[in-house]
Amino acid sequence: MSNKPIGIFDSGIGGLTVAKAISEELPHENLMYFGDTAHLPYGDKSKDSIKLYSKRISDFLVGRGCKLIVIACNTASAHAYADLAKRHPDVPIVNVIDPTVNYCSSRFESGKIGIIATKGTIKSRIYPRKIKKQNPGLIVSQQATPLLAPMIEEGFFNNNISKAIISSYLSAKNFKDMRALILGCTHYPLIKKEVSECLSEVEVIDSASVVATTIKEELQNLNLLRTKGESVKQFFVSDYTDSFEKTSKLFFGEKIQLIEDRIWD
Ligand code: DGL
Repeated sequence: MSNKPIGIFDSGIGGLTVAKAISEELPHENLMYFGDTAHLPYGDKSKDSIKLYSKRISDFLVGRGCKLIVIACNTASAHAYADLAKRHPDVPIVNVIDPTVNYCSSRFESGKIGIIATKGTIKSRIYPRKIKKQNPGLIVSQQATPLLAPMIEEGFFNNNISKAIISSYLSAKNFKDMRALILGCTHYPLIKKEVSECLSEVEVIDSASVVATTIKEELQNLNLLRTKGESVKQFFVSDYTDSFEKTSKLFFGEKIQLIEDRIWD
């Protein structure tokens, strides 16, 4: 059972930041990744659409024998986590929001925490609700940043235009005097440096490494950790894109094989 892969999904390349952190923390684990490039961006889709996509992709991954599923997307974690946990009662499901909320609530006792994320995640108010429940002393300020995921997916960052867009979003009044900023979208670690450059003395938090630690603990508890052997990584997309191929190779090396599986046809 421990040889079975960890299933990971996102709308596109964002979840690769989580997959990368998992492969660093758990180098022997086999990974199966699904990028739903046919439907990205998820951030502006309805809750019902996200639930539908997530159910179909989780069926795909569970059907291929995945031992644990990681919803490596904040928007899908916000809208579909409860449904997936019910749909696959025998497979542990990990979302990217709870580990980040736990980290933040234990790290900060008071002050302001900012969040940037897709429209879907911000509208759900899942971060403020969960953070305030764990730590009522924290002030939470959030802001939708809908241009960022499509911009990153296109490989459009580290240039003057991306810098201008990021700095305009971060200059929002409600972000004044914050202690930390949560990157509430798995695409955003790719622009973490640009975000940090706009903010001085603000801790910029991305979920990738805290999620990887949570997965390690979960697999350990279930006795499902793979502790030796070479890792096999498979990457599926619902619609081939150059950008996905480029980013997955950048993260995991030239040898990876990208398979287009048009599960929606
Ligand atoms: N990476 C995803 C998230 O964390 C989705 C971004 C998008 O497709 O809009 O929300």
